[in-house]
Amino acid sequence: MKRTREGKIIVNEDVEMHGKPVSASASEMAEVVLPAQTNALGKLLGGHVMHLVDIVAAMAASRHANSYMVTASVDYIDFQNPVNLGEIVMLKSHVNRVFHTSLEVGVEVYSEDILTGERKQTTTAYVTFVAIDEHTRQPKRVPPLILRTAEERHRWREAAKRRIIRLAHRHAKKH
Ligand SMILES: CC(C)(COP(=O)(O)OP(=O)(O)OC[C@H]1O[C@@H](n2cnc3c(N)ncnc32)[C@H](O)[C@@H]1OP(=O)(O)O)[C@@H](O)C(=O)NCCC(=O)NCCS
Repeated sequence: MKRTREGKIIVNEDVEMHGKPVSASASEMAEVVLPAQTNALGKLLGGHVMHLVDIVAAMAASRHANSYMVTASVDYIDFQNPVNLGEIVMLKSHVNRVFHTSLEVGVEVYSEDILTGERKQTTTAYVTFVAIDEHTRQPKRVPPLILRTAEERHRWREAAKRRIIRLAHRHAKKH
C-alpha cells in the first residue's frame, strides 16, 4: 500500500497498471417488482434478488477491470427485510478490495415504497470475481484500487478478513 502526494492510497500497486478510484466503477440499477417475480405472499423472490445482485456486482467488477469477469464465489448474502410487490428494488455495488486476479464487490439492496418514498435496506452481499483474459481465457491481473474516503478504507480492511475465511473454505474443500 502506498500514499501518493495527493493523499490517495493506492492498494496492490503494479507499475504497469494505473489505479482506479472506487467511484469510477460504482454501479446502480433499479426495477419495479412485478407479480412474476414474487412469491405467494407478494414478496420479491430471494432467487431473483440473487440474480440482480450478481448482475449489479458484475457491472462494478468489469467496469473496474475493463475485462471479462467470472463470479468465483458469493460468500455472504442476507435478507434483512422483504421487498413487496409494486415497490422499487434498488441495488448499489462498489469494489471493496482488489487482490491479484480477483476482487471483492459489496452490494446493498434497498426497497422503495412508491407511495411514501420510504427506503429500507433489505439485503447485503459480497461477491468475488476473477478477471479472465479474453485471449488465453486464464485469470489476469486487475488494476489497483484507489481509496478516497474513510468508508472505502473501512470496506477495504473488512474485505481482507472475508478473503481469509473464503480461501480457508476453498482450501478445506480441496483436501
Ligand atoms: C474462478 C476461476 C476462474 C478460478 O480459477 P482457478 O484455476 O481456481 O484460479 P486460481 O487458483 O489461479 O485463482 C485465481 C484467483 O481466483 C481466486 N479464487 C478462486 N476460487 C475462488 C473462490 N471460490 N472464491 C474466491 N476467490 C477464488 C483466487 O483466490 C485467485 O485470486 P487472486 O489471484 O486475486 O489471489 C475458476 O474456478 C472458474 O472458472 N470457475 C467458474 C466460474 C463461473 O463459471 N462462474 C459463474 C458464471 S460467471
